[in-house]
Amino acid sequence: MIDYSALFRISYGLYIVCSGNREHGNGFISNTVFQVTSEPVKIAVTCSKKNFSADLIRQTGAFSISVLHTQAAPELFGRFGFRSGRDFDKLAGLDLHYDETTGVPMVTDGSMAVIVCRLEQSFDVGTHLIYVGETVQTRMLDPDKTPMTYDWYRQNRKGIAPPNAPTYVDKSKFGMK
Ligand SMILES: Cc1cc2nc3c(=O)[nH]c(=O)nc-3n(C[C@H](O)[C@H](O)[C@H](O)COP(=O)(O)O)c2cc1C
Repeated sequence: MIDYSALFRISYGLYIVCSGNREHGNGFISNTVFQVTSEPVKIAVTCSKKNFSADLIRQTGAFSISVLHTQAAPELFGRFGFRSGRDFDKLAGLDLHYDETTGVPMVTDGSMAVIVCRLEQSFDVGTHLIYVGETVQTRMLDPDKTPMTYDWYRQNRKGIAPPNAPTYVDKSKFGMK
């Protein structure tokens, strides 16, 4: 038996993961970003094969991670978490930085830190790919802010996750409300 409420006790942060370049960039919301080694610093992110970002990260050979804080606008979640870059330019009108070596865009709106990784490995775990990258740049933007956790998002924003998120639960299948 799987009690999904137990799975919701796993702690996560919330991030915008970007790929592409100055001409054509994109990003998606992810809660599955985690550091996997310290020497060198490597970071993993889990991406649905259905996300537009899945191909773009591979093509770019790099990705950036923007660490969202608790004052991040709810609009960022609608834009990056529930709509696809196949349909519109998600980065239009936002404050962006570009990494000098990889060219990858970084969203600075709603973000307290940014991290850039060069893609090293990918692991096929079924519906999703785990991308692992070596960190080439990190920058603090706003150290006084509080990082947004997934639990905070669920409790305070009453936020949910769409089917492409690894933590998605189809409540109708389990008789949950
Ligand atoms: C709170 C939250 C967490 C999410 N976490 C992930 C994740 O870890 N991995 C993933 O592939 N999608 C995740 N998603 C879903 C993607 O952000 C969503 O499918 C997005 O529209 C994909 O954009 P793209 O098609 O432009 O790449 C999450 C969405 C939300 C709202």
